Amino acid sequence: MSATAGLMQEHQLILKYIDLMERCAKLNLQKPDIQILFDQTVFFIDFIHEFADKFHHAKEENILFRYLGTPGVLTHCNPIPQMMNEHQQARGFVRNMEKALRSKNLHDLAESAQNYAGLLKMHIYKEDNILYPMAERGLSDDLKASISREYAETEAEFDSPAIWEKYDALRIKLENDLT
Ligand SMILES: [Fe+2]
Ligand SMILES: [Fe+2]
Repeated sequence: MSATAGLMQEHQLILKYIDLMERCAKLNLQKPDIQILFDQTVFFIDFIHEFADKFHHAKEENILFRYLGTPGVLTHCNPIPQMMNEHQQARGFVRNMEKALRSKNLHDLAESAQNYAGLLKMHIYKEDNILYPMAERGLSDDLKASISREYAETEAEFDSPAIWEKYDALRIKLENDLT
């Protein structure tokens, strides 16, 4: 049983959106007269709020990280405060994106989008390669079973199949808009 396989799958979708957002930012900085970043940011922000933050980060913060705090699970070091700190930093970059969108400031919008993208890529790399393997090694089968039950409750609450379907479809639309 894995406590992190589903989260890693979610990372893959988040990375695809990040790539799209970076491509829009780059394109719009090269051609400031086109509106692509302004037009698409509303979709990126929706995805970040609903999927990356409410769905994915909520599962990490409310479930996985809480279980990793069980005495004896993380024996060598505790990266959780740093991971939580990065979630907060990411939320700050999204607030900056929203502010730049409201004031129609292309430079600030592109900069905040790139800051978010850079932070999340690094954060996901650390989770996939350091934190999650530590979790798989440190969590007992009983704890993994409890985690799976709690994930299932959260996934039911958020209607996981519907959220995946919605954001897979949106990703395809955004990719088509960029080609
Ligand atoms: Fe995270
Ligand atoms: Fe994550």
